[in-house]
Amino acid sequence: MTERLTATPSGLEKAARILREGGLVAFGTETVYGLGGDATQPQAVARIFEAKNRPRFNPLISHFASAHAAFAQVEAPPIAHKLAHAFWPGPLTLVLPRAVRSTVSELAADGLCSLAVRVPRGAAVQALLAKVGRPIAAPSANRSGRISPSDAEHVLEELSGRIDAVLDTGPCAVGLESTVLDLTLPERPMLLRHGGIPAEALEAVCGPLSYPDTQSDTAPVSPGRMLSHYAPTLPVRLEATHVLPTEALLAFGPHMPHGAAVTWNLSESGNLEEAAARLFAGLRFLDQAGARLGLTRLAVQPIPAQGLGLAIRDRLHRAAAPRPE
Ligand code: TXA
Ligand code: MG
Repeated sequence: MTERLTATPSGLEKAARILREGGLVAFGTETVYGLGGDATQPQAVARIFEAKNRPRFNPLISHFASAHAAFAQVEAPPIAHKLAHAFWPGPLTLVLPRAVRSTVSELAADGLCSLAVRVPRGAAVQALLAKVGRPIAAPSANRSGRISPSDAEHVLEELSGRIDAVLDTGPCAVGLESTVLDLTLPERPMLLRHGGIPAEALEAVCGPLSYPDTQSDTAPVSPGRMLSHYAPTLPVRLEATHVLPTEALLAFGPHMPHGAAVTWNLSESGNLEEAAARLFAGLRFLDQAGARLGLTRLAVQPIPAQGLGLAIRDRLHRAAAPRPE
């Protein structure tokens, strides 16, 4: 059951407790309702993708009560501080290099070296974020492929029974998602998504913007194509039903092929949520072990093509695809 909470002290307390315990709470921001989970817990982030029925992972925005809390997770140059001063709290998301000290899980950042951060406006959401005291990952609270909800009723139509609670903060003031601005590039800031803050308003603060070149094959039009996207160094072999002694094995389920030099089982019980939560840690572990042991390949056992399995398979296919030099 999805509980409907109101923005009272006890409602906020309960919402914060659910989030800290790894549950999912949808909440209103000034843009749209977000489907929130603790970004530091991979299992909670896996649940977000599960609830949204998303066929692939993508990087999520981490939400904070203050610019101070947001900038603790990233490397923020002076221009980021300037933009935050001008537009936070508000409908602006900044993409910045993820700090080494960041506590945000790799699943929430989709393995990227960057992290999208935002301080939303609204007394209730601010109180909630302050109470939780951790980065809250929140995509829009709709099922994949549907429009973003701007009141609690819409959230329930989309996600009732799939999330623990919705914090009813009334209708959203802006009703349009945040503007996403990438500050990780050496030249101009790049506007990745139009949204609540107009481009002209940003330019008044940070000068001319650049835009992704959708014609070009090499431009980072989607995060999935960005070069910084984490891919293992070892070549990847999918749908492996046997392994060689020179291979590392990314296993799934109780029936593992024997003989790999090193193995990481995503989920011995065959649970896809657990597998999603352990995916990035597993890839990294096997890649490092592979380099240390001089292995030739990363073999991946078949993952079921259903539910979260689709997102896991999509990520592994991208890891197996030919790499740009
Ligand atoms: O207004 C909003 O931004 C709402 C509220 C809930 O905050 N959230 C939202 O999240 O719209 P979502 O997941 O539906 O869209 C997030 C956008 C996506 O286009 C995603 O690709 C981009 O932000 N994004 C997130 N992290 C990124 C990163 N590290 N680099 C580039 N783009 C990123
Ligand atoms: Mg969305």
